[in-house]
Amino acid sequence: MRSNAIKYAFLSLPFSVSLLSIAGTPASAGAPVEAWKDHTRSPDARASALVSAMTTDEKLRLAQTANGTTAYGVVAPPEALQSAAYLAPNTRLSIPALIETNAGLGISRRYDTGAIALPSGESMAASWSMDTSREAGVMIGDEARRLGFNVLLAGGVNLTRDPRGGRNFEYAGEDPLLAGSIVGAMIDGIQSQHVLSTIKHFAVNDFETSRMLASSNIEEGALRESDLLAFEIGIEIGHPGSVMTSYNRLNDTYTSENSYLLTDTLKHDWKYPGFVMGDWGGTHSTTRAMMAGLDQESAGTAYDSRHFFGEPLKEAVRSKNIPTSRIDDVAHRVLRSMFAVGLFDNPIYRRPLDVSHDRAVALTVAEQGIVLLKNQDSILPLMSGQNVAVFGGHADLGVLEGGGSANVIPIGGNVAPDPGPRVWYGPKTYLPDPPVKWLRQFQEQNKGHVTYDDGADLRRVSDLAAHADVAIVFVTQWSHEGADAASMTLPDHQDALIEQVAHANPHTIVVLENNVIPEMPWLTNIAGLVEAWYPGSAGGEAIARIVDGDVNPSGHLPLTFPVDTSQLPRPEIPGAGFDDAISIQMKQDQNVFYTEGSDVGYRWMERQNLKPQFPFGFGLSYSDFGITQIHANGLQASATALNRSKKDGTTVVQFYVRPPHGTKRLVGWARIFLAGHTSRDVTINIPRRSIARFDTQRHAWRVDAGDYDVYAGLDSSDLPTHTMLHINTTAWLEP
Ligand code: BGC
Repeated sequence: MRSNAIKYAFLSLPFSVSLLSIAGTPASAGAPVEAWKDHTRSPDARASALVSAMTTDEKLRLAQTANGTTAYGVVAPPEALQSAAYLAPNTRLSIPALIETNAGLGISRRYDTGAIALPSGESMAASWSMDTSREAGVMIGDEARRLGFNVLLAGGVNLTRDPRGGRNFEYAGEDPLLAGSIVGAMIDGIQSQHVLSTIKHFAVNDFETSRMLASSNIEEGALRESDLLAFEIGIEIGHPGSVMTSYNRLNDTYTSENSYLLTDTLKHDWKYPGFVMGDWGGTHSTTRAMMAGLDQESAGTAYDSRHFFGEPLKEAVRSKNIPTSRIDDVAHRVLRSMFAVGLFDNPIYRRPLDVSHDRAVALTVAEQGIVLLKNQDSILPLMSGQNVAVFGGHADLGVLEGGGSANVIPIGGNVAPDPGPRVWYGPKTYLPDPPVKWLRQFQEQNKGHVTYDDGADLRRVSDLAAHADVAIVFVTQWSHEGADAASMTLPDHQDALIEQVAHANPHTIVVLENNVIPEMPWLTNIAGLVEAWYPGSAGGEAIARIVDGDVNPSGHLPLTFPVDTSQLPRPEIPGAGFDDAISIQMKQDQNVFYTEGSDVGYRWMERQNLKPQFPFGFGLSYSDFGITQIHANGLQASATALNRSKKDGTTVVQFYVRPPHGTKRLVGWARIFLAGHTSRDVTINIPRRSIARFDTQRHAWRVDAGDYDVYAGLDSSDLPTHTMLHINTTAWLEP
């Protein structure tokens, strides 16, 4: 490790200085310096120079990583850090190792140190803040480097097409513009720390059930306007060094061997210069995958049904089934990304984590992402000095986190009393930041009192709730990679607990820590509802600060909350809901038909004329905001936001456009702070792609001539101000 660090430190010196040895002895005058070490050259030029110095075997090695525990069939070296995947350094050419770790919510599976967990991706998206999301990316990128990694398998941007999706918590909601922007900003933050990020899972892996076999079937135009648009935007903003394919098939062909996806769209239409890695166990062939555009097999020796890119790849090149130009292209793409992100020039530098700084970042994200959904008679914020009875959700111990490869082992350890299945997607993890501790701090300073009860005995619950000024029920719902939920019903009889508490005390508040969006049969009986998602390492404090009023809620939903499954395009997910996620992801060999096309979430609700429980974009505040006076001038729209109350606060002004044929789409937003009784004009530029259709005949985006409705408001269904935009002639945009 140490000798590598010195070697790479040498590479990080500016070109002119690098002619001197680090020990201070001058290098022999006039010695040729390899062009790839020249910092002033572009990543492309450096990659070309390096590729030309490599043997075919050296290039082929870049096409595969190995599992960090058992690399290439042997025990991995300690530098592999038991990581998700590892590519050994090339010592002859000083090419650094790739040491890969998960994922988008923090550094996973560090049993020795732990790491700080961000709130779920939905929470980040609920902030509608690219600055916040970038800051979150900077934090986890920095943690990756400090812990010894230079690749973060982060940047999940699959669209939420169903509130039961098992990995929704890793993603950024249902809208391509919002999700792509939030995830792109996060990737930009990660890579600013010289850690290569990989946007994933490309593409249309929107369900976990049967993810290894199912085909996501969707018409091409709809695909470009929905899931692929989210990736396109994420890539434009974040410039990720890598794209990870998904497990599923897309229109019948595995994504890892889908040339429409990898070559025609990503590399040709979008001119993506980075490399494509497979998912773990997601590579299925050698020549087919390589020629379709897959550049790197991930941990193939450990996960794929057999090793496709090791010896078989060499053989395919030897027998000219794969041209050497394609191998040059692979090497160029991998190295170009490594240069672009700064992996050569900024070697990994292991240090302890800056825990208090990182926790503060997680706290900010959680505070901005929590969404206040109901606040009858201003039950929130709590008054000081009240007697508060808290029930359920292990709120005395911590806050819940999602499971699977994104699971972060908390600093201080998992405090879950029921850690659940001892399998790869477990354990069920509670982060040690108990809401009750923080609520107590606030109330008890003010002569109030907070009690906690686990909610198991409903008779006791009634009694405790009846004697409190306010009751808070914490609801938890655990999801993990590899499985979707079959229904939207809350598990563990939590509906009954809420009903019981609400029956005993009309001042009942429910706090949700969840992935699956639940049916809410009790909604009319409760006074307050707070969506806290999986709120991350500082989640307990964030919830308490919202509930107590230290923080004015500002989050807005990045996905629609349907009333129940009957409102969904697919009321049933065949095969979902069994316990054994391993067999669920493997056994069913089914087709999923995305008949809703690009009308995902709020667009589906509009198309079907349905009223959701809570619409996309919705979120209350302790202030009272309004929107007036929309204007559209060409593709620029502006509106006035006002704070009608005396309470300072932050809101999200949203702009939507309905094209001549079709449902309305989000086209822009501004997250703004407004002091009490002030107003502000907000202007956005409408991206032409967001109001276009993808024309498959002409293979281009088409902006139709005609009248477009333009709206502004504070959520997708309450749009008080409207104007028209007229486009005279149909316009075409590059694909
Ligand atoms: C997941 C990826 C993850 C990889 C490595 C896979 O099961 O789908 O998101 O990055 O494992 O852990």
